[in-house]
Amino acid sequence: MNETGEAVITVKALTVGYGEKVILQNLDFEVRRGEVFVILGGSGCGKSTLLKHMIGLYPPMAGEIWFGPDSLGAAQGDDRIRILRKFGVMYQSGALFGSLTVMENVMLPLDEFTELPAQAKELIALAKLKLVAMETAASQMPADLSGGMQKRAAIARAMALDPGILFLDEPSAGLDPITSAGLDALIKDLARTLGCTFVIVTHELPSIFAVADRVIMLDGKSKGIIGTGRPDELRDHSPNPWVRQFFNRQAEFPRRQLPPDD
Ligand SMILES: Nc1ncnc2c1ncn2[C@@H]1O[C@H](COP(=O)(O)OP(=O)(O)OP(=O)(O)O)[C@@H](O)[C@H]1O
Ligand SMILES: [Mg+2]
Repeated sequence: MNETGEAVITVKALTVGYGEKVILQNLDFEVRRGEVFVILGGSGCGKSTLLKHMIGLYPPMAGEIWFGPDSLGAAQGDDRIRILRKFGVMYQSGALFGSLTVMENVMLPLDEFTELPAQAKELIALAKLKLVAMETAASQMPADLSGGMQKRAAIARAMALDPGILFLDEPSAGLDPITSAGLDALIKDLARTLGCTFVIVTHELPSIFAVADRVIMLDGKSKGIIGTGRPDELRDHSPNPWVRQFFNRQAEFPRRQLPPDD
């Protein structure tokens, strides 16, 4: 954990949406170097929308996103590319290209952004696959891999250009609890050993407690942030009862299953 780390991403008065439609408004938060930062919130509240704006896929309706000293909105041309290369992304739909081997998938960003000779690109891709314990699957096709292995390979691809920041949208979605716990351990390990900063979208409570240094909780109704802090802090001390309830996982049980005095 890195509570006093400098801000690597600063989000200022950010409003995002599509066309005229506001999805989230006036968000302020920062992500600190080396931390695992989790964005959570109900289905459809705008988690992926926020992430896509943070990585510059869409221009914000208002506000700013800073990567260290660089404003993403203001940067153009080579400056913008230099900022974009600071991070790797695994999208929610995050599929690997089915017609390419695992190795070829991991080499894609190297093909696109570097002029390295093929052999160097292969060595780098193999090193990334090793980091996620997938080197023995390098020549396999994605369809032949389990869901957890596909996620690992997608993380290796996101790391291909050695970014300091990794954005992962719902990495454990669709995985069984044991595979999901393995992925959490991998993320924690990468954060610790490589010093990478992770920004992760998830709503899996065990994952949040396993990996998150800090979280922000988004709310679709108010279109804002209803909690910021360590998961245990929010569970025990959030002034917002809905936030405490989420972290105590009472919400998923129908009222009648709770103890009578609850
Ligand atoms: N490209 C788009 N154009 C217009 N509206 C969109 C677009 N993408 C998402 N939306 C809408 O924005 C809202 C937020 O969607 P988003 O995918 O960001 O939510 P989410 O919190 O990631 O949901 P989930 O938990 O299902 O992944 C939804 O109402 C969605 O329909
Ligand atoms: Mg989403």
